[in-house]
Formats: sequence, structure tokens, C-alpha cells
Amino acid sequence: MTNHSASRKRTVLITGTTSGIGQALSEVFAAEGFDLVLVSRNEQKLKSQAGSLKERYGAAAVTIAKDLADPKAPAEVFSAMQEKGIAVDVLVNNAGFNESGPFSETSIEKELQLLQVHVAALTHLTKLFLPAMLRNGYGKILNLGSTGSFAPCPLDAVYCASKAYILSFSHALRAELSGTGVSVSTLCPGATRTEFARKAHMESALLFRRFTMDPETVARIAYRGLMKDKKAIIPGLYNRMLVSSIPLTPGFILDRVSKLLLRRNATA
Ligand SMILES: NC(=O)c1ccc[n+]([C@@H]2O[C@H](COP(=O)([O-])OP(=O)(O)OC[C@H]3O[C@@H](n4cnc5c(N)ncnc54)[C@H](OP(=O)(O)O)[C@@H]3O)[C@@H](O)[C@H]2O)c1
Repeated sequence: MTNHSASRKRTVLITGTTSGIGQALSEVFAAEGFDLVLVSRNEQKLKSQAGSLKERYGAAAVTIAKDLADPKAPAEVFSAMQEKGIAVDVLVNNAGFNESGPFSETSIEKELQLLQVHVAALTHLTKLFLPAMLRNGYGKILNLGSTGSFAPCPLDAVYCASKAYILSFSHALRAELSGTGVSVSTLCPGATRTEFARKAHMESALLFRRFTMDPETVARIAYRGLMKDKKAIIPGLYNRMLVSSIPLTPGFILDRVSKLLLRRNATA
């Protein structure tokens, strides 16, 4: 692993660190010698996470308790970094959640919050932290997509559309930044055993009963891919095969597969 500056430790800012993939990524970055900025809603969990990372890895971890569904949150996170004089070398836009089900029945409040977190906050944080990365000639941005970034998903329409935005935005920005020293990668996991399915009441869906990976494996693959400046990081052979098959599969079959995998109480 190369260090762009021998004089100071690198710092990663990760959103959504208190469980799942974000928590596992925090462990990997701390083990790799990074200092951390941890952003999530639950202040108590953040504090205990920071204490544990310091104790086990000697990593300095600053915590910022913010709800990224609040449109003011990205600017507040950025000013907190400026006040503390912390330069962010790596930005990981990981925070997210799902609101799945038939669109006619899902909660519009949750869907608007989802769009705020996945689309607006991710875009806004990238806009705020990018200029300093460009000035330094070094930076890495990791945005959390999904295998659902690659095709529309009936029974998860808003979630997958938001993840398609993330993939499209990240690929375009990556091309714009070519040659600047700042890279953009998109992590596209499939079903992963985190709090995500339970919070979205999706545990009974076939997708989460059959085809899951653990967040620690996803995070290790993500870190390696990010350090190699990979464009899209798709952890797991099954997920890579699924994504490769999408352009070759007629839309009506993809729709049926999506419904089969996402329907709740589906029988195996
Ligand atoms: N698990 C999967 O199957 C899967 C598959 C593909 C992609 N992903 C993506 O991976 C990312 C992480 O999900 P996960 O599976 O690790 O889920 P998770 O275990 O539920 O973790 C989500 C994290 O995001 C934080 N978060 C949620 N809403 C937030 C908000 N409004 N403001 C600030 N923080 C917020 C949560 O913290 P608090 O609730 O404490 O604030 C938590 O730390 C998401 O972007 C998700 O879409 C997950």
C-alpha cells in the first residue's frame, strides 16, 4: 500500500459506521493504519466504536452524530472537519437503508429520506470534500452501490433507482477526475448479513435466505479494490455472475427474478 504523505497518517471519513458494512470497513481501515471520522446517528454507539478502535488499533477516531436524512447534515459534517483542521483523504459514502415492497404500499416518508441519504447527501459530501483532494493531488472516494445498481428491481423500485444513480454518478465523476490523483470506486455488494434486511423487514425474502455474504469479507474486498482504484467492486462470484448476466437477459425475465428474490415470505 502506498502512502501519499510520509508526514501524517491518512484519514478516512466513513458514513454509517455503527453496523454492517460500514462497521466492517472501519475495522479494516483502522487495522491498515488510518485515522477515522465516523458518521452515523447513534452517538452512544459511535463513542463506544471510537473507543474500541483506539484501544485495539491505536487509531484516532473522531465521531460525528448526524442524521444524513437532514439536508443540512453534509455541510455540518464538513464544517466540523474544518473546525478540527482534519483533512479527509478517503471518503466512504456508505450510510443507507431500504424501504422495499410494492411501491403502492411503501412509505413515501421513508423513500424521501432514502433519496436524501443515498442521492443528495452522498452527492453533497462528495462536492464538499473533493476540492481539497484535488488540491492535494490525492484522494479516494468509495460510494456504496449494490448489485441492484445494474437493473430496475420490481418490489424495490426506489432503492434500486437510488443505487443506479450512485453507480452512474460515480462512473461519470471517475472519468472527469482521471489523471488528477483522485479516484472514485463503487462498491456493489449483493445481499450481505447486516442489520439492513431486519430493519427493512426483508429477512424472509429469498435473497436474504440464500445468497448472502458476511460484511467482513465484503469490507476486505472493498478495501483491496479501492486501493487498486477499481471502478466497480462486486464482491463474490455469485454476485459477479449475476451482474454479468444482466445485459444478456431479457427485461421480463429480470423482472421475474427480482420479484422472486424480493418477495417476502417466499418459499425456498
Ligand atoms: N446488506 C445488504 O444486503 C446490502 C447490499 C447492497 C448494498 N448495501 C448497502 O450497504 C450500505 C450499508 O448497509 P448495511 O448493510 O451495512 O446496513 P446496516 O447494518 O443497517 O448499516 C447501515 C448504517 O448506516 C447508518 N445510517 C442509516 N441511516 C442513516 C442516516 N439517516 N444518517 C446517518 N447514518 C445512517 C446506520 O446507523 P444508524 O442507524 O445508527 O444511524 C448504520 O451504521 C448501504 O448503503 C446499503 O444500501 C447493503
